[in-house]
Parts: sequence; C-alpha cells; structure tokens
Amino acid sequence: MLKIGILISGRGSNMQALIDAARQKDFPAQIACVIANDPDAKGLERAQAANIPTSVINHKDFGKDRQKFEQVLDAKLVEAGVQLVCLAGFMRLLTPWFVDRWRDRLINIHPSLLPAFPGLHTHQAAIDYGVKFAGCTVHFVRAEMDHGPIIIQAAVPVLSDDTADALAARILEAEHKIYPQAVRLIAENRVNVMDERVFITNAGAPPQIAYNPADGSPLAKSAAAQ
Ligand code: GRF
Repeated sequence: MLKIGILISGRGSNMQALIDAARQKDFPAQIACVIANDPDAKGLERAQAANIPTSVINHKDFGKDRQKFEQVLDAKLVEAGVQLVCLAGFMRLLTPWFVDRWRDRLINIHPSLLPAFPGLHTHQAAIDYGVKFAGCTVHFVRAEMDHGPIIIQAAVPVLSDDTADALAARILEAEHKIYPQAVRLIAENRVNVMDERVFITNAGAPPQIAYNPADGSPLAKSAAAQ
C-alpha cells in the first residue's frame, strides 16, 4: 500500500475523490494524512468525516519564511510515513527546496491541458482564447508553477455558450476520475519518468480523435459524401 499525503487549501473535492477511491478494496494506496495551510479549508471537515488524520500548518504563522513553513510541512509528511504527496487545490507555491526533496514523489492536478493556460483563471482564459477543447492534467511537480512531466490528461469540449463555471464543472468531473487513476498508476509502479517525460507501462489505448464541433457537422457530411 502506497501511503499518500494530500495538501489542500479549499473545498477538497479532488481530495474527496481520492478518499472515495481509497475506500475501494483493490485500490493500492491509502491516505496517511491531509494537511491544510488554511485553517478554514472546507476540505478539513470532509477528511475528518472520513476519519483521516488532519493537520493545519498555517503559512501565516511563518511570515515570509517559506522555507520554515515547508520544513514543518515536510516533517509532518515524513512523520506520517508519506511516500507520495498529492497537491489538491493547494494554493501555496512550493520552493525548489521542497520540490527537489519530493522529486517524482509530488504530484498536482491543474484544470487545463498544460502547458496551455497555467496559473489562475484558467477556465476563463480557455474561453477567451476560443479553444475547442479544454481539460485537466495530473503532473509531477517541478519548481516552475504548473509545470512538470505529465502523467494523465483528460480533454473536454468547450461549448459556445460556456461560462467559466460551466466549463469548470465539466472539467472537475474529469479531474475526479484522473487524479485517483494517476495515484493508482504510481502505486502500481507503472509510471516512469525519463528525460522529463512520463512513460506508463501497459497504458490503455485512448480514443483516437475527438471533434468539436461534432463529426456530424455539414462539413464532415459533405466530405464523407465525396
Ligand atoms: C481544482 O480545479 C484543481 O484542479 C485546482 O484547484 C481546484 C481545487 O478544487 N488545482 P478542489 O479543492 O479539489 O475541489
């Protein structure tokens, strides 16, 4: 059983997806602890309801001393026997010290098809750009924000009348699938990082092409008729 630690700052729906997955008998990972940097993080209650040990390490207690905050965080993770750290809506940038210490044992989920639209307000940015597909990415963390070897991505269509909230909800559904899936792959030792690319042993074949607008458009029909 791989022991995972989850870091949150907010509502914790991805954390909940991991909790739900870990309840399944055949899931090869267990949640050793949930740590929030914000005492008001709603996810804390959800973790407590699932009987998972929680702690708050409030970054505000450390002023500008990021390293001290991270040392305490690191000590807590080590104490809980954590082997893989999952960032799940964790809103603190981590320093190279922490990122290197947990290299290839620290993953994040981001609601875009990276490297497109890193950072905040990513759903609105995708709508404003006019991309026809958006999605989400689980990746190993590197010092640069929303950057690092990609483990899994899921694509969802962007609809012409989408609001940021509507798109976020569609993407979130996919997030809740791929985050547990990524943890499972890592726990099964099927994820290898080589030259900053991820290779997965026995990865299933994905659908070949998705169209937006759909393949049934007049253009596709007339091409098929020729
Ligand atoms: C998710 O969209 C995640 O991709 C991003 O922050 C959001 C956190 O949501 N990193 P939740 O706290 O997991 O519900």
